Amino acid sequence: MLRAKTAVLVSGGGTNLQALLDAQNSGIIKSAEITLVISNNAGAYALTRAEKAGVKSMCISKKELKTQEAFEDAIINALEENGIDLIVLAGFMSILSERFTSRYDHRILNIHPSLIPSFCGQGYYGLKVHEAALKKGVKVTGATVHFVNEIPDGGEIIAQKAVYVEDGDTPETLQKRVMEQAEWIILPQSVEKIAEQIIK
Ligand code: GRF
Repeated sequence: MLRAKTAVLVSGGGTNLQALLDAQNSGIIKSAEITLVISNNAGAYALTRAEKAGVKSMCISKKELKTQEAFEDAIINALEENGIDLIVLAGFMSILSERFTSRYDHRILNIHPSLIPSFCGQGYYGLKVHEAALKKGVKVTGATVHFVNEIPDGGEIIAQKAVYVEDGDTPETLQKRVMEQAEWIILPQSVEKIAEQIIK
């Protein structure tokens, strides 16, 4: 295998997807090739980013498929049809069951916008994570890349990067700093690291 075929699962804006595409262009990612983008939301701007980069993309909607099982089966089919080796959850706002995660043991990465084990697990997603960090009054937060298992945000940690909280931060300003100073850096680095191990 020359490069690990990688699928990125998204739900929203897709700035982390963009960081991965940029890292592929700049050579930071050389052991992985992003060949598929799957969104569970047809309106996700991430789908436009994929299209602009010439990467195959599709929407798989849980609402339309009704059950978790049918939703996950549709994702599995897409991954298998496209010969995917590595899966990256980049702002994917849907929990995957053990049936799914155990099938791809140590092959699914997620980016979480805090230093796990702080502000993580069920209910901690998007701005809620940063709201909780500000409410607690922590002075340092950051981002974590980890493997995905059946426990939300509970899999083995691959990389973390700390970011300072500043006086006057709002959840939005903190989210932006965590993305710029941590997420967009450690996610591409982690994808390269794991893809390199897969292709060996
Ligand atoms: C990021 O903060 C990521 O850590 C979290 O969801 C957000 C997604 O942002 N899991 P984007 O869609 O990559 O812009």
